[in-house]
This record gives sequence, structure tokens and C-alpha cells, in this order.
Amino acid sequence: MLAGKEVVLGITGSIAAYKGAEIASRLVQAGASVNVVLTESAARFITPLTLESITSRKVFTGLWNNAPATTHITLAEKADIVLIAPATANIIARIAGGFADDMLSCTVLATRAPILVAPAMHTDMYENPATQKNIERLRELGFIIIEPEEGRLASGGYGRGRLADIDIITGNVKLAAAKDGDLAGKKLVITSGGTREPLDPVRYLGNRSSGKTGYFLAQAARDRGASVRLITTSEPVGETTGIDVERVETARDMLSALNRATENADCLIMAAAVADYRPAEAFTTKIKKSAGGMDLQLVSNTDILSQARGSFVRVGFAAETGDVDKGAREKLSSKDLDLVVANDVSQPGAGFDADSNRVRLFFRNGKVEDLELMPKSALAHRIIDAIQAIGFSDKNC
Ligand code: PMT
Repeated sequence: MLAGKEVVLGITGSIAAYKGAEIASRLVQAGASVNVVLTESAARFITPLTLESITSRKVFTGLWNNAPATTHITLAEKADIVLIAPATANIIARIAGGFADDMLSCTVLATRAPILVAPAMHTDMYENPATQKNIERLRELGFIIIEPEEGRLASGGYGRGRLADIDIITGNVKLAAAKDGDLAGKKLVITSGGTREPLDPVRYLGNRSSGKTGYFLAQAARDRGASVRLITTSEPVGETTGIDVERVETARDMLSALNRATENADCLIMAAAVADYRPAEAFTTKIKKSAGGMDLQLVSNTDILSQARGSFVRVGFAAETGDVDKGAREKLSSKDLDLVVANDVSQPGAGFDADSNRVRLFFRNGKVEDLELMPKSALAHRIIDAIQAIGFSDKNC
């Protein structure tokens, strides 16, 4: 996701400086080349050696002591993204004022790359009007602020000022890096999870879909620059920075959310396991146990995918347990789709709730492509590659 990207990671003198090591590691794992700039105060909390071991690059600590005099310019020009995490009240004030008196502030002043700032400090320092004014000034100047969280503070107190969750920080970096991705300017609508069809206040008809497939698709599309609306029944899987998530329960909720979302969409991906039927009646009070059995009457739900019309690329899934090819081809033509992602959900390690999946892709033009078993996060990119191969140009663009 960050392959080929040069990230300058500025770490400043907050107790949260030790989290800089984890942030650097996550950025490296995502493919970025990371240049760490440690302020003198930060170097009291975390050693350059730790960060050099993680990034396999020299760490910069001062303007004069370990680098040529123009290093800040080289760093600034090469950077695709600058991230300051954690950012103290001091660095925030200095960069808001345009100061250039150490390696980090000089690099910030010299770069044209997007700059992300993740504050971390005691609540009283964070809420101080001077700090708030400086943060506001940074926003006006186009800096991206990654808001701190509320929680336990190093002083033992509780309040806002904890460094944002590392997933959220790296999610913001990916979002900033995605601006020139291959889906930039495209709008994707994705559904995920199993719908829940209420029977009474405590029971519902549902299925085993975890929502993982849809969340990974949404993250992959976001990381490639798309604007993404995810309509889902399930709890978040991973981080959702920059993804417009709408939570729904039933097939009928999903249908109306989708009808609102597909306006101007370039692509719809229906990864959700939508209930084909719902109880004919949703009782308002709990159904009491009675001797003998119980007959439950079901009525059909609308087929959401079939009625979702527009000039966007339409991708459906086929969850099969028997003849996968037959089911997939039937869905391709009866639902008039551009692509069907077919999975045999009876296979171990595939389908519902697994972390991996093995699918076969059926294209409108008759092409069929087999993909090997792989993590759902990797599969998401392969499905998006397939959508790119279909092309948006003859559709909505
Ligand atoms: O969420 P996970 O745990 O990661 O699991 C992923 C998955 C197994 C749910 C996913 O890979 C998958 O197969 N999703 C589709 C499940 C399904 O409902 O398949 P289907 O063959 O019954 O439906 C075919 C297509 O029509 C699907 O795109 C479905 O979203 C859509 N549909 C179905 C019924 C309905 N009333 N409206 C629909 O739009």
C-alpha cells in the first residue's frame, strides 16, 4: 500500500515517543521507506538505534551533529508524506509559527508533501487555548490533524490527549498516500456482513458472514484512492479511516441505504450475505415457548443486486455449496452483472467468517479466472484488479 513511498516520521518528546517504534514498524511493513527524525527530547525517551534497526536507515537527531547541513532539504524534497507522531505542544507551536530551529521543524518548513500531525500530551496542555489556537492554525495551513484520544494519561489522570490509536495513524498515512492511486476519483459502494431479519425483540434470522470480505475490500479501495461507502451489518474489521461506513440491520435497510448511495457511483460490489427471506411478521413481544413445534412463515426479500440499476460496474458474489460454476453463471446472467466472485463456502479456510478465501472470477465476457487460496485482505486487491481490468470508462465515467 505504501510501496515506493518515502515517509518522514518525526518523533517528538512525549512519553508516547516509544510508540514511534511501532508506527515506524507498521509503515515499513506497509512497504514505505521511512526516514525518522528524532527531536533531542524524543531521543531521551527512545534511542536512534531502535529506530535504525526497524527502518534500516540512519536516524536524524540534530541539525548539526550527524548530517550534512542541507539534509533537511533532501528529506523534505524526497518525502511523499511527513508524519509527526507523537507531536508535543512545543512542536505544534513551533511549526504553527513557522520556526525552523531543528531538523524536524526545518524539514516541515521545506516540504511540499502532505503533513500529518498526531498530538499527544496531558489534557490540560492539549485543551489550553494556546495549543488549540496553534492546532487551528495548522488546519488552516493544510496540515492534517489526527485527533488524540481520551483515556488514561501518563500522569495517572484521565482525559483527552493520548496519542491516537496506531491503526488510525497508519490509516491516515495510507489515505494521504492514496491521493494518486489507481482508483483516484472513483466512487465505490460496497456491502458486507449478513443481514439480520427480526423475528421478535430478541431473535433474528441471520447467517455466518463476518463482514471481513467487505471491510477488506473497502480498505483496499480506499488505499488505492477511491471514495468508499461501505454499507454493512457488522462490527468494524481493522481501521476505517476515510471510509464512509453506514451500519444497517435488515435487507430492507440495506436496500434503501444502497439506493441512496449508488447515485454517481462508479462501481457496486455486493459482498453482503443478504437474507433471501424474512419472517412474515416481526413480533413486538418475545415469542413464548409452547409445547410442540412452531411454524414460521417467511416472505421473500427484494433481490438488492438485481434491482440496483445504473451505469456503474456491478459485481456480485456467489456463495455456493454445490456446483459453483453453474450457480455463478446463473447469477452472472440473471442479475446482469459485470463480474461474479464465486466461492465454495463448504471448503475449509474459505467463505463465511474465515480469514482467507479461494474464489473463481466469472466475467461478463465469458472469461473465467481461478485465484488461489489467499488472505481476504490480499483477495480484496485481486478483485479490485479484476474490476480495473473491466474498466470504468464504458460505464459511468
Ligand atoms: O463476510 P465474510 O465472513 O468475509 O464472508 C464472505 C462471504 C462468504 C459472505 C462472501 O464471500 C459472499 O459469498 N457473499 C455473498 C453471499 C450471498 O448472499 O451469496 P448469494 O449467492 O446468496 O447471492 C448472490 C449475490 O446476490 C450476492 O452478491 C448477494 O449480495 C446478492 N443478493 C442476494 C440476495 C438478495 N436478496 N439480494 C442480493 O443482492
